[in-house]
Amino acid sequence: MTTTEAPDLLHRILDYSSRSDPYPLYAELRETPVALQEDGSYVISTYREIAGILHNPHLSSDVRNLSRPMPGAEERATPSFINLDPPEHDRLRRLAMRHFGPPHTPGLVSGMAPDLTNIVSSLIDDFAGKEQIDIVDDFAYPFPVTVICHLLGVPREDEPRFRVWVNAIIDSINYDPKTDPKEKLDNGVQATKDLRQYLGGLLEQRHGHPGDDLLTRFANDDGPDGRMTDEEIISTANLLLIAGHETTVNLITNGMLTLLRHPQVLQRLRDEPDLVVPLVEELLRYEPPVHIIPWRAAYSDITVADTVIPKGSQIMLMLASGSRDPDRFGDPDRFDPDRQDNQHLGFGSGIHLCFGGPMARLETQIALTELVRRLEGPRLVADPPPYRPSPVLRGPIHLPIEQS
Ligand code: HEM
Repeated sequence: MTTTEAPDLLHRILDYSSRSDPYPLYAELRETPVALQEDGSYVISTYREIAGILHNPHLSSDVRNLSRPMPGAEERATPSFINLDPPEHDRLRRLAMRHFGPPHTPGLVSGMAPDLTNIVSSLIDDFAGKEQIDIVDDFAYPFPVTVICHLLGVPREDEPRFRVWVNAIIDSINYDPKTDPKEKLDNGVQATKDLRQYLGGLLEQRHGHPGDDLLTRFANDDGPDGRMTDEEIISTANLLLIAGHETTVNLITNGMLTLLRHPQVLQRLRDEPDLVVPLVEELLRYEPPVHIIPWRAAYSDITVADTVIPKGSQIMLMLASGSRDPDRFGDPDRFDPDRQDNQHLGFGSGIHLCFGGPMARLETQIALTELVRRLEGPRLVADPPPYRPSPVLRGPIHLPIEQS
């Protein structure tokens, strides 16, 4: 069923004033599982329908298959595999995964635990003497950036340079139907070019001077799928650099915020550190970093919850709404780390299921365990904290806390 009220509801969800608590609006939106928007796109908000779409082979992640092209899509050079379909998606994902996890590199993520703990410990050591700590700037941002830079072979000291480009790229995918996107898109397109040029320079150096990093391994791999071209390596590195930290920073920050709002759970985590495993899963359901997947296109007419979605339509998946759907999760608005059967949509599902999930989980588990172990009497300075502009990658821009 579609209604005419739902478009206004989406505008309210995307409006910045809803950023700190979009969940009541998601509940309203779920009354219309498939909502047609004024611009011809469809918004899907219920668990069953979202999961169905994520596994439906008639759906494309390549925005070039939209009948109304997404503004700026043409100018954005070679898409990375998150925006490609099989067989190209599968080939590139396989080529990248060979160096990132099982079956070819099985110990990579678990073997990172000691280094991750060292980085976390030294960031927490630096809190000493500070009256107020910003969990974002002092901890949740520098931690995953350091990790992904090291893994890829991007010099950590270049962070101020690429931060400007990454911010402009994230800003350009913020879906805001009320503002003129031209300037943001132009900035995003230019930032993508600058970031690609920068990564291309690093790759060039690897051809002559191999290092112990993913860029080197991508450039020299002669596996069954052949080699990635330089363009493909640059697109993949671009994707991993952005996806590798922009989301994890929000999971760690949302995690600390949620723990400070649930002091009994925080105390339990101090007493029972193993609780962190189900706790991080529950965070991915209850306060996920990725709220919306804005890019699916129908390859052919498809029917979802009795609504026919015409070929070429843009489909937006409201992942965070699906993970709070009462038809799938009992008492969905309760943060419950003991929850069983917690198959949330935090990492998506299907062929594009998050590639970095195991690493993001481990980073967040170590971060939260150490924060609650070492912080003494932490208190929120402001609740709600200020949020980043994005309704897509949602999280606080700062999370100031004080200690006793
Ligand atoms: C808490 C942190 C993270 C969250 C919540 C998250 C979430 C997601 C989601 C929802 C998708 C699916 C997108 C789609 O279906 O279109 C995705 C895909 C992806 N993620 Fe993550 N991600 C996180 C961390 C990471 C990290 C650390 C990396 C890399 C080191 C990473 C790399 C990727 C890649 C490469 C894809 C594309 C997979 C494909 O298209 O096959 N992510 N992620």
